Amino acid sequence: MKSIYILAIETSCDETSVAIIKNGHKCIALTVLSQMDVHASFGGVVPEIASRLHTENITMVLAATLKKAHMKLTDIDAFAVTNAPGLIGSLLVGLECAKTLAFIYNKPLITVNHLAGHIYANNLVNKMVFPLLALIVSGGHTELTIMEDDYKFRELGKTLDDAIGESYDKVARILDMPYPGGPNVERSAFKGHPTYKLSVPMKDNGYNFSFSGLKSNIINLVHNEHQRGNEINKNDLACSFQTTAVAEILNKVELALKNNPEIKHMLIAGGVSANKYLRRQLKKLCRKYKVKLSLPKFIYCTDNAAMIGAAAYPLYLKKAFSDFSVSVKSNESLV
Ligand code: KG4
Ligand code: ZN
Repeated sequence: MKSIYILAIETSCDETSVAIIKNGHKCIALTVLSQMDVHASFGGVVPEIASRLHTENITMVLAATLKKAHMKLTDIDAFAVTNAPGLIGSLLVGLECAKTLAFIYNKPLITVNHLAGHIYANNLVNKMVFPLLALIVSGGHTELTIMEDDYKFRELGKTLDDAIGESYDKVARILDMPYPGGPNVERSAFKGHPTYKLSVPMKDNGYNFSFSGLKSNIINLVHNEHQRGNEINKNDLACSFQTTAVAEILNKVELALKNNPEIKHMLIAGGVSANKYLRRQLKKLCRKYKVKLSLPKFIYCTDNAAMIGAAAYPLYLKKAFSDFSVSVKSNESLV
């Protein structure tokens, strides 16, 4: 059977990325140009700057990826692009680029949901086996979903307020650590102990998450200690936060595994899936329930176009193509 090469583009936030994926699971070439350093000085992503930088860089990133793959645009079978959810101006840069290429080379255009991309990043490591439990933990989303088959999602629960990555970033800001906070809080937590008693986010029996109470708890704690003239042990507070936040996630995952014994596979997706403490705890839990856990490679955890190419492949097989009237959406759920 002829191999299918998909050229994928991801520009939903602050990474300009292009990849070429063969048959949905083999990454031939990937380029990720991060704007993180520029946004770090503002303490977070500035949408206007993000879209301007995507516009400046997309052609260069595209050329670099083709060069790495030793391929030409005429070798490509389809053009895939993230069109939701994300920053409107940023998404538009990627979408217009993909539309132009699909039009010029007369090949299908495939639009991909960014969260589906994070999930399908797992296909670049191990083939996804259904039914599976997917835990999405990113800067914008925290979600537990059962996947019965390709693109058949049954949402169990999601965050009612902040996403887990957002909480990491906010806690980092409270502790004077640079953006993006996740990796810095993780490093700091590694050196500390969970000595601070923080409130447990959700004490119910449902699948929804909540992280804003935990954040407020930390803000108040830091404020009160400062007022008393006490020093905060940042490593211990980072560790206490991480232990509590991950425990919240683990509780819901355990509930899902208990209530759905037919699930034998689980995967994690999104930027926070790079967190080693979360990975370790999930491995233990999955071992307990005899569930196979798939962990994406670190390079495929945060935003990248390889995951978009992997997610586009089942859509290519189903001929689920988009026409040129398709647009971008700042919000779009998986179901
Ligand atoms: O998936 P992603 O790259 O972007 C979104 O789609 O949102 O996720 C970015 C988020 C940021 O909040 C970042 O702080 C967090 O993932 N993150 C981490 C780690 N690496 C990235 N959080 C905790 N531990 C990490 N190692
Ligand atoms: Zn993402």
